[in-house]
Amino acid sequence: MPERETIWVIGASDGIGAALAQEWSNRGARLILSARTYDRLEALATGLGPEHVPLALDVSDRSSIDAAAAKIAKIGALDRIVHLAAIYDPGKIADLDAERAAQIVTTNLTGSFHIAQVGPKLLKDGGQLALCGSVAGYIGLPQGQIYSATKAGVINLAESLRAELSGQIDVRLINPGFVDTRLTQRNDFRMPAMVTPQRAARAIIDELCSKRFEVHFPRRLTWALKLLSALPYWAAMPLTNRLTK
Ligand SMILES: NC(=O)c1ccc[n+]([C@@H]2O[C@H](COP(=O)([O-])OP(=O)(O)OC[C@H]3O[C@@H](n4cnc5c(N)ncnc54)[C@H](OP(=O)(O)O)[C@@H]3O)[C@@H](O)[C@H]2O)c1
Repeated sequence: MPERETIWVIGASDGIGAALAQEWSNRGARLILSARTYDRLEALATGLGPEHVPLALDVSDRSSIDAAAAKIAKIGALDRIVHLAAIYDPGKIADLDAERAAQIVTTNLTGSFHIAQVGPKLLKDGGQLALCGSVAGYIGLPQGQIYSATKAGVINLAESLRAELSGQIDVRLINPGFVDTRLTQRNDFRMPAMVTPQRAARAIIDELCSKRFEVHFPRRLTWALKLLSALPYWAAMPLTNRLTK
């Protein structure tokens, strides 16, 4: 990192976001750390150093994002925004609580839309805005709805934003495989190729410094799922059906 970057990490209080904050701080960045839980952000910022700023917000609430954006605009133009905030409930469609499902959509998909609208104005020319999808968004698999549908939506949103902001903002898409966080600790099925948040953070930072639009890891899992999603339905569906058994 040639000169000190200012980076806004949204979803920084836990999991991949907290590990990203630690790794970016090690590499010399100045961080603005956001999530809903201020105490955790403050503890993280204090542990990382006095230059880091805890800033609570709720991405499901546009007024909360606008208020945070007004504070960030006073700090100065950002080099990068990495938006990771999301919630997840495991389970089958028939078992989902409808109100909770709506909350997951509002947080994961509408929240990403809010950041896609608000974020570019906070960035330097050519600055980077990364949204977080998931391999769960590549193809519909049993379990994990409605989360997986929101992640398919975020992938689509990032693709559109990349085209719309071409030449102005460097839009990126992060699609992790399984990472060992509180989010996946609720799963009761076997998760292949699981990585630690620290390993995920290093992979994300290294790839965000490359030219590739999509950050995806670990490759042995992501390429297999990409292949599955590229198959015609007549070939893919017997394979996905087997996962319900
Ligand atoms: N773990 C995996 O295997 C995996 C795989 C694929 C994709 N991902 C994606 O990676 C990202 C990070 O996931 P993770 O595993 O690190 O999850 P996590 O440990 O649960 O962390 C999620 C973060 O989002 C914040 N957050 C949740 N709702 C929010 C809201 N309404 N407003 C603001 N912040 C909010 C949480 O903090 P508060 O609760 O304090 O708000 C927390 O900091 C997510 O987008 C997830 O979908 C994860």
